[in-house]
Amino acid sequence: MNFPSSINSKLPAVGTTIFTTMSTLAKEHNAINLSQGFPDFSPHPALIEEMEKAMRNNSFNQYLPMPGYLPLREKIAEKTEALYAAKVDPETEITVTAGGTQAIFTAILSVIRENDEVILFAPAYDSYAPSIELTGGKAIYYDLEAPDYKVNWQSVKKLINQRTKMIIINTPHNPTGTVLSTTDMEQLEKLVKGTDIIILSDEVYEHILFDGLQHLSILRYPKLAERSFVISSFGKTYHTTGWKLGYCIAPKNLMAEFRKVHQFNVFSVNSIAQVAYSKILDRKELYLELNDFYQQKRNYFQRAIQSSRFKLLKCEGTYFQLVSYNRISSERDTEFVRRMTKDMGVAGIPVSVFYRHNIDNSVIRLCFAKEEETLKRAAELICKI
Ligand SMILES: Cc1ncc(COP(=O)(O)O)c(C=O)c1O
Repeated sequence: MNFPSSINSKLPAVGTTIFTTMSTLAKEHNAINLSQGFPDFSPHPALIEEMEKAMRNNSFNQYLPMPGYLPLREKIAEKTEALYAAKVDPETEITVTAGGTQAIFTAILSVIRENDEVILFAPAYDSYAPSIELTGGKAIYYDLEAPDYKVNWQSVKKLINQRTKMIIINTPHNPTGTVLSTTDMEQLEKLVKGTDIIILSDEVYEHILFDGLQHLSILRYPKLAERSFVISSFGKTYHTTGWKLGYCIAPKNLMAEFRKVHQFNVFSVNSIAQVAYSKILDRKELYLELNDFYQQKRNYFQRAIQSSRFKLLKCEGTYFQLVSYNRISSERDTEFVRRMTKDMGVAGIPVSVFYRHNIDNSVIRLCFAKEEETLKRAAELICKI
């Protein structure tokens, strides 16, 4: 007999993610994988060198302090002040994490209790809802509508009640590629004024915005920042998603709660990567020029598939391009991406999986964080569809 004889799953609805499914399918069929969001090019050689140096310096191979390597936190504080005019205390308001996902999970776990409600905008990054559910809290969905996926803050207001404990925003937004505007931020500020609602602001794509758009970090808005966890990821900025390092910025009182969870969840995170990033942050051009770097990729990819039968949706930020296939097929998007991978050699992600009720607008997400050669080959196949 197996023991235990049955497991009462804490996440009964969660199975293998679509990212794993599509990447496996892409491999099986030798398709070009534009599904999962990761670059196929190398990090900057200087970062690799710093990593190697840190590893060879034996004082960095053991645990670093629980909140993170202090020189790294100091560099993060400097950057935050320079970019967003926000003063944050590296001692008490920054914690280095094992990527953005852990920071999101830890922030939610540290303040959300049973029956608390958390508002999130769907289509949404897939870790938010399970993180909320594991605390006994409830995810309350606001469904953004294709094709422009804009927020109507008056409608969001209707979702707020006494149980509302948190609102999660994500700008630039995965998967839609939209960014929040000054008006959005002002509306959000009005919405939470006089409440105890905490904001979790997922800004992992903070350096990937196009056409001169500015990233409106919540840290630029003192009245919002005083109630916010802000999440960043080095993986997105330095083409090192596999290194899994990120950080959270929050006011001292919220950060104290965050660290209570963090210290028993991971205690401290990868030491040598922290040292390497603390050095590479001096080379400001590496993050300041990222907008241009990805804008060129976006433009290249858009031009290359412009003549295809897919319709391109607006892409203001992130490294994802949404395309509608409603001129090609009436299949469900989950079926369409499978067929596209098997028969046409290109893998993408169906946007319906980012909605709670799998709203299907015949839209799929393609990742353009790829070498030009990869994008060229993918575009040729896409144009044959
Ligand atoms: C919106 C969003 N938030 C957070 C993350 C997680 O970042 P990390 O890889 O650092 O955990 C991702 C990664 O895909 C993302 O798209």
